Amino acid sequence: MTAEIEPDALSADEAKQELARLADLLRSANLAYHTEDAPELSDAEYDALKRRNAAIEAAFPDLKRDDSPSEQVGAPVADGFSKVTHAVAMLSLANAFDDDDVTEFDERIRKYLGLAGDAPLAYTAEPKIDGLSLSLRYEQGQLVQAATRGDGSVGENVTANARTIDDVPQSLRDAPDLLEVRGEVYMSHADFEALNARQAEAGQKTFANPRNAAAGSLRQLDADITRSRPLRFFAYAWGALSAPLADTQKGAIDRLAQLGFQTNPLTQLCESPAEMITHYRQIEAQRATLGYDIDGVVYKVDNLGLQGRLGFRSTTPRWAVAHKFPAELAWTRLEAIDIQVGRTGALSPVARLTPVTVGGVVVSNATLHNEDYIAGRDNKGETIRDGKDIRVGDWVQVYRAGDVIPKVADVDLSKRAKDAAPFEMPARCPECGSAAIREPGDAIRRCTGGLICPAQAVEKLKHFVSRAAFDIEGLGAKQVEQFYTDGWIAEPADIFTLRDRYGSGLQQLKNREGWGEKSATNLFDAIDDKRRIGLARVIFALGIRHVGEAAANLLALHYGAWPAFSDAMRDAEEGNAAWDDLLSIDGVGAVMARSLATTFQQDAERASIDRLIAHLDIEEAARPDTDGSPVAGKTVVFTGTLEKMTRAEAKARAEALGAKVSGSVSAKTDLLVAGPGAGSKATKAASLGIETLDEDGWLELIGAL
Ligand code: IVH
Repeated sequence: MTAEIEPDALSADEAKQELARLADLLRSANLAYHTEDAPELSDAEYDALKRRNAAIEAAFPDLKRDDSPSEQVGAPVADGFSKVTHAVAMLSLANAFDDDDVTEFDERIRKYLGLAGDAPLAYTAEPKIDGLSLSLRYEQGQLVQAATRGDGSVGENVTANARTIDDVPQSLRDAPDLLEVRGEVYMSHADFEALNARQAEAGQKTFANPRNAAAGSLRQLDADITRSRPLRFFAYAWGALSAPLADTQKGAIDRLAQLGFQTNPLTQLCESPAEMITHYRQIEAQRATLGYDIDGVVYKVDNLGLQGRLGFRSTTPRWAVAHKFPAELAWTRLEAIDIQVGRTGALSPVARLTPVTVGGVVVSNATLHNEDYIAGRDNKGETIRDGKDIRVGDWVQVYRAGDVIPKVADVDLSKRAKDAAPFEMPARCPECGSAAIREPGDAIRRCTGGLICPAQAVEKLKHFVSRAAFDIEGLGAKQVEQFYTDGWIAEPADIFTLRDRYGSGLQQLKNREGWGEKSATNLFDAIDDKRRIGLARVIFALGIRHVGEAAANLLALHYGAWPAFSDAMRDAEEGNAAWDDLLSIDGVGAVMARSLATTFQQDAERASIDRLIAHLDIEEAARPDTDGSPVAGKTVVFTGTLEKMTRAEAKARAEALGAKVSGSVSAKTDLLVAGPGAGSKATKAASLGIETLDEDGWLELIGAL
């Protein structure tokens, strides 16, 4: 934007012209964002325009236009797809970036299973297809449902669309009664080019890369559009099953091929990390000529019995890893460094770049993390980029790895302008003007404005409605921003009073541009739907620093119900019982505990949370999959030598069955599992009268013998 005159310093004529200019700009930005899926302004630029418009309207109320942008909120709410809860969660994969990571993957698995370094252990290696995953459910051999991954536990029902894909069989012969086949939907390079040419000719939007084209084509409300797009499907995994497909991963893939699915021809069995890496290099060498995008090689333990023993971490299987191809690189000019303010007040410098294509995607922004990173130091104070700092105007090398935000890899000092000045972080928050402070030991500078900082408030709201949090259909980041800018919502609690305030009366949601009777009602209904919600989602949605999704789950499981959780957070003080109990949760450390306690003990924050909770009916946390588990809720201690499993495996398995595993015996212990060589713990358990089992007794108890 050009240098701007303060709104109240404008003449009436200038104000009128400026309002017309802003209305124009905002109309075109809205169109680009909502209907063409191709935003032309950053969110911050858009908001700045909207704020300027509102300020001028406030200074010159008579000049407010009939088509004032202030009266327009949000995008049309798509009717969308129905939701599908996956019978077995659709997980993602942990990554390996170099050969050492692959060797370590093998070592980790051997250690977990208690296998010697030279014991045979085979893996499959196959390309990682760069598309989107799809789960196909067959009952009695008939395709009955197709669903996208979504957040892993709930996806979108795209059955009608999947039926249009040639590689997806409608019926199967000799299949188990229930079979969920999982794999990747993708588009070949040739089909992608042809589709883009057709789209361009018809004056329609083109896609940045084959993956976007595949996703955009599968997620069409009109299945006829999907039918006209040449999608393909590789099967590589499965979900719920009524009978096993085989004893090995390779055997299961072969069985899927026999059933009529396309499986990747480059899938190979490897007997060692060295063979895996050799196969990786071979696939990498063929990458450019495969005719479809792949972004790495996936290794999976071949023996399905061992896969079962290895099990899962919270979102990834222990038995698989994705060995990614190196990131793609490009040189471009750093035009500016902007500061974004996040939900916890963190000031993040963002590089604005002259747009450049990196691996098929146009990149115009890159993350710069923090001031140390810009100065050429990592978070341990060690030199990065040979200590070269980053300055506005520099030529920088950017890279992209997978879906992550691009980063700056290098700086070309020979091209640096003589007058280029080192970058300095602002000492004040660019959004609210509060002091921005960097605490000792923290790499991040933070705005101290708290609830008064509009950027923090908006980011908190965006987080609140995000997929893993309240996930309110029709209320995405964009709508939240607009409602906030227009003063309709300032904090999460306000979302739940929208219907009361804007469902009827003069100012109605349905009268806003982009909204009608139906979409407004849908939004209010979608909000009502989320008044009853699980405890873990509520905890995560609060957006407390250091409390991510996994931690929210742990907290929910530990406290069970909202009152117990919130009382404990209010009471927790370093050293007292509530604090010790909080820290006893495996996965909660002092930093997170402090962050939780501070949030709940600050009056304004606490009041804002209480206002929200008053609108909700919070479900107690149910321990998943532990129905009928004989050890659910029990505290178990393992001691001595275990012969059929390692300690890590025993612990993970017990926890998966809902038990709490503790390292020491106390009056709270329910069960001691003692192998040979058990010492003082067994003695103590005996003196406390605690039930003690040997390893076989334990395995029998949990039904694993
Ligand atoms: S196995 C439980 N195999 O990569 C593990 N995934 O980053 C299930 N993907 O969500 C995944 N090619 O969409 C597996 N050969 C392959 C794959 C593959 C692509 C995708 C899949 C997954 C993502 C994880």
